Amino acid sequence: MELQKGEVPEKYIQKDRDGEPLDAKFPAMDIPVIDLDLLRTSPTSSAHELVKLRSALSSWGCFQAINHGMTPEFLDKVRDVTKQFFELPLEQKKKYSKEANEIQGYGNEIVLSDEQKLDWSESLYLVIQPEDQRKLKLWPEKPEVFRSILHEYSTNLQLITKVVFKAMASSLKLEENCFLDQYGESAKVKAKFNLYPPCPRPDLVLGHKPHADGSAITLILQDKNTEGLQFLKDNQWFRAPIIPEALFINIGDQAEISSNGIFKSLVHRVVTNSERGRISLAVFYIPEIDKDIEPFEKLVNESRPRLYKIIKNYPNIYLQYYQQGKRPIEAAKM
Ligand code: SIN
Ligand code: FE2
Repeated sequence: MELQKGEVPEKYIQKDRDGEPLDAKFPAMDIPVIDLDLLRTSPTSSAHELVKLRSALSSWGCFQAINHGMTPEFLDKVRDVTKQFFELPLEQKKKYSKEANEIQGYGNEIVLSDEQKLDWSESLYLVIQPEDQRKLKLWPEKPEVFRSILHEYSTNLQLITKVVFKAMASSLKLEENCFLDQYGESAKVKAKFNLYPPCPRPDLVLGHKPHADGSAITLILQDKNTEGLQFLKDNQWFRAPIIPEALFINIGDQAEISSNGIFKSLVHRVVTNSERGRISLAVFYIPEIDKDIEPFEKLVNESRPRLYKIIKNYPNIYLQYYQQGKRPIEAAKM
């Protein structure tokens, strides 16, 4: 359904708030800003940046990446095509609807149970890598530049994810390809375009319920004008500030497992507001499903015992646990 201003159906009202309105003014947190250019260059110029990266990922589970190789103008184009797609008449968007039992395509969140509270959002979910797994019939033809911009964005993210995984490894004093090798050459990369329309009851309704991602890492392009992303640290919600030229990068469950819990999978949510809609583009890097995901041996020792078992096909485990209202990463704990 398309979400309208007006009364909010019961299905959208979050009941298990701890009394606090969801749109309370939580503090904004200055998440570490990491310069990817410094990570790409010499070991000496990257040393300080690697310490910052390790500290960001182990205390927060996220960072803001700048100098990632995409210009602010190009990021604006990505935001523009996202906005323009969601502005199409519903009938046109429906041409790209998800089919039954499919996650790719346009629609609302998947409903897994009768009790599930719904998110105030619409989204378009597309596999972007490996290229031969793209379902082009679900790639919008309007706006006309949508496909070429997404292709270009995807090519850039391929380079960026490599730099980030290598830096994550180096920051842990591991061989630089260890994350990439564990996740496999044909890791899946999925793009989720989100629209959070203005909502008449931001105090009661969420754009995206609290969750941690089932990916290894996620790269988020935030709306330039409207905040909404929040994350949890020490049981307190913080607003993620907007840096227009940055990508917000967070750890997902699978990199928490590989790093034996040193890197923290970020618990986050999206709040709504009554004035303005918000768009975002989240890109998930998902290891090949038949790869063994487990803590790197060098990160297991007497002072840091092994926290996680070997798992395979985490997206499947994730769905089962999520459906039961449990935190999926619990399934991988020793
Ligand atoms: C998500 O968690 O996938 C949504 C992120 C966002 O909209 O900023
Ligand atoms: Fe997420």
